[in-house]
Amino acid sequence: MSSTTDCIDQKDSHQLLINQHNCKISISSLSLSSFRNYGSVRIETSAQPVVITGANGAGKTNILEAISLLSVGRGLRRAKLAEISNVAAGENWAISSNVNGRHGHVKIGTGISNEGIEDSDKRLVKIDGKTTRWQSELSKHISLIWLTPQMEQLFIEGASAGRKFLDRLVFSFDPEHAARVNEYDYHMRERNKLLQYGRADASWLDTLEQKMAACAAAIATARLSTCEHINHTIAASPLTFPKGWLNATGFVEDLLKSGSSAVEAENSLKIALESARNYDAASGRTTNGTHRSELRVTHIEKSMPAESCSTGEQKALILSIILAQARSGAIWHGIIPIILLDEVVSHLDATRRLELFEEICDIGAQTWMTGTDIDLFAGLKEKAQFFKVENGKVFKA
Ligand SMILES: Nc1ncnc2c1ncn2[C@@H]1O[C@H](COP(=O)(O)OP(=O)(O)O)[C@@H](O)[C@H]1O
Ligand SMILES: [Mg+2]
Repeated sequence: MSSTTDCIDQKDSHQLLINQHNCKISISSLSLSSFRNYGSVRIETSAQPVVITGANGAGKTNILEAISLLSVGRGLRRAKLAEISNVAAGENWAISSNVNGRHGHVKIGTGISNEGIEDSDKRLVKIDGKTTRWQSELSKHISLIWLTPQMEQLFIEGASAGRKFLDRLVFSFDPEHAARVNEYDYHMRERNKLLQYGRADASWLDTLEQKMAACAAAIATARLSTCEHINHTIAASPLTFPKGWLNATGFVEDLLKSGSSAVEAENSLKIALESARNYDAASGRTTNGTHRSELRVTHIEKSMPAESCSTGEQKALILSIILAQARSGAIWHGIIPIILLDEVVSHLDATRRLELFEEICDIGAQTWMTGTDIDLFAGLKEKAQFFKVENGKVFKA
């Protein structure tokens, strides 16, 4: 941890130097085919913020969902893949895009094939025309953060929602994190299965627990580092948004915070897993590990847990966390991510709205924003590109 702290001490968190060393991720073209209410549509964009307006149900969120599917996972709606194909067209959905990514220009394509429909969890991913087996390859090229109205329930939805939110924040800049979380889950499921057999092979259990513990130490370390970066950025921020303080807690995270090294925390988890075998076999689940960790957020000025704050305060806290993570990306990773903000602007008063616009322009992120009322985006005139969505078509506004 000390190296991270040294690094923080040397930086003025709000002094974002957008220079040639910062890699700004942006989409230069996005083509959708048979995607939700779109038959075939292509949007060309510069690296500036993008505003998409249109009536309710016009297809604004669908565009953001398409962009979210350029990163690992099931996208911002967590939809079943077969649901996405346009119901009238009877064809499989596909997205193709040109992206200025972490390693320069890249073509990213994704969609389902007929095999994909049978296996509802699999979508095809092509990077520069080559099909890749691992979705996690996407994280090497793209860095994305999003906020949707559904996520505003985050603080009252329980541990798993907070943990997933934090993990998404982590892997917006740490390409290995998604793969580590998947690997951890895989070994945990194998261990659970083995324990269910009754007379499990002890040496095989040892191996699985060792692998779980090694992944867990890396997962917890990455979560703590992300929280630390965000906390620093929020503390240094001049924005009037409520300031949140993020704390990842759990078996491994708590050990690391109390001074254990990653190796010590890994060993402690391994011992805990071994000693809980009988209990875990009886309960059918794993008692300790990073799959049970929580994200706790405190409203600093009020010393109040986020879940006890008003709905408006919770929304503002989440938005400020998203903005801080984007800024942190530039400060600590040299990456300016794409930000997707779905229907966020309409909930903000005029002052906050202007602050938001200033902040995204200052960070320099290609931020895609949606809303029904174009007037609310007047503060972005000349600074953003405007599109209007109507009847499954996208027009320059
Ligand atoms: N698979 C699909 N095929 C055709 N239309 C769809 C599909 N899934 C969703 N839609 C339509 O997309 C529209 C919603 O788009 P959305 O992007 O959520 O709108 P908004 O502009 O309000 O964000 C709805 O009219 C819905 O019926
Ligand atoms: Mg919408």
